[in-house]
Amino acid sequence: MTKDAPLVSLHPNVKAFIGEKRRMLIDGKWVDAKSGKSFEVLDPATGQVIANVPAAEKPDVDVAVAAAKRAFESGPWSRMTPAERGKIVWKIGELIMEHQEELAQIESLDNGKPVTVARAADVVLAAELFQYMAGWCTKLDGRSLTLSVPYTPGSEYHAFTRREPVGVVAQIIPWNFPLLMAAWKLGPVLASGCTVVLKLAEETPLSGLKLAELIQKAGVPDGVVNVITGFGETCGAPLAAHPDVSKVAFTGSTEVGKLIVKAAANDLKKVTLELGGKSPNIILDDADLEQAIPGAASAIFFNHGQCCCAGSRLFIQDKIYDKVVEGVAEYARKLKVGPGLDPSTQMGPLVSQVQLDRVCGYLESGKEQGATFAAGGKRLGEQGYFVEPTVIVDAHENMKVYQEEIFGPVVAAVRFKELDDELVRKANDTIYGLAAGIYTSNITRAHRLATKLRAGTVWVNCYNIFDAALPFGGYKQSGWGREMGVEVFNNYLETKSVCVGLGQG
Ligand code: NAI
Ligand code: MG
Repeated sequence: MTKDAPLVSLHPNVKAFIGEKRRMLIDGKWVDAKSGKSFEVLDPATGQVIANVPAAEKPDVDVAVAAAKRAFESGPWSRMTPAERGKIVWKIGELIMEHQEELAQIESLDNGKPVTVARAADVVLAAELFQYMAGWCTKLDGRSLTLSVPYTPGSEYHAFTRREPVGVVAQIIPWNFPLLMAAWKLGPVLASGCTVVLKLAEETPLSGLKLAELIQKAGVPDGVVNVITGFGETCGAPLAAHPDVSKVAFTGSTEVGKLIVKAAANDLKKVTLELGGKSPNIILDDADLEQAIPGAASAIFFNHGQCCCAGSRLFIQDKIYDKVVEGVAEYARKLKVGPGLDPSTQMGPLVSQVQLDRVCGYLESGKEQGATFAAGGKRLGEQGYFVEPTVIVDAHENMKVYQEEIFGPVVAAVRFKELDDELVRKANDTIYGLAAGIYTSNITRAHRLATKLRAGTVWVNCYNIFDAALPFGGYKQSGWGREMGVEVFNNYLETKSVCVGLGQG
């Protein structure tokens, strides 16, 4: 691990941002929690407190939802043309890029990810997401329909559909990509004309609060976007169950996803969920290993393995097994692990003590179940939440490290002989279905296998490629619905059929 390396010097605005008392955005005003309670935000590289944010609870949720309801029903937002909305959403993207360095530093401080990655990936993708969604504002039209019903001979109908915003949306996001998850959630809400209460993750509330400032600056009217900070049970749960919320969009654990469905069941709110994964990444023996080895390594080590789509089960064909395992293990050993604010860091700390304990628990269980480690296998250092990039070899199906989502930099390598139904069965043998990877130079094998994998995204000769145009979401217990692309609007728009009887002409 790198130690005492010179860290990037903090932007003056970042120093001010974390130095001041942070408030949350409700109805266009920056407010404390009604109870006056707040909680500490920690730097995962050191475990030190870097900021304090309000601990919103049910009374704060009630005010935020009431503001969103008012803004939806009667505010200037509801009267804006799609083009006017589009300009504002585009502007958010511009402001994000104007504040790229600040956002990257805040993200790195709060989440632990390398500032270089936050700058080049998280911030840029967040800006692009808003600008992609801005274009949709003017294009969310219905269709005109030709009916066949001949109730009265010669009678005609003029029938069409309208796409209308679903109403007040509740959104709850996790800590692995704090800014980007906020963007994925808020972009389509704004483009569709809904209003929203977004609850940030308690581990990483800072970049979302900064984004809320930019959203306000871009000209989004008061009450349209309310951004609150609080804990899952005391803030997320009352938000997900609120009777004035029409739709809940959640990203996080499969366990909490199931609670969200129960909370929403009472008044049958619409729900979309983006949950966990245990994605197979399959390397066939004809793959270009120059590409496949770093591909397989970054599929698991990117964002320290804290990705719902991490390629955490690595299937490698017999003939190339040793070479790929050694290549990925070498990549793991060479990864520069250190504080996110060190510009030479390639992998930062995990997000929290809880996550460190969880990942270390899996490493222990691997040892107990007889796993062999080709690289890593333990915590790194004593300060901060660092863990070694880890490669487990010859994992078998009854190991917890093979079956369960670890959400850390731990890959389980599995050997297979043939590209056959048994490989497909094993790859699909998980409760999840978020993503999958295939490395091969044979186009026929790639397409045949891609069709058979039960996953919402299949990457071929690449991994972790995200684009605002590319829908993302899960099969099976990885979730309901899709984020991004035009598909995301199914989450936020109702379809109204209008049928006008024209009589006989
Ligand atoms: P979590 O699902 O508890 O937290 C995600 C969000 O849900 C946070 O904003 C949290 O405050 C909120 N939340 C928690 N309980 C809630 C409730 N009862 N009602 C409403 N909202 C609630 O995830 P956590 O505890 O941070 O991580 C646990 C595991 O979940 C990880 O180890 C990982 O396996 C998985 N995870 C998956 C993510 C994904 O992107 N799909 C992201 C984060 C975690
Ligand atoms: Mg939790």
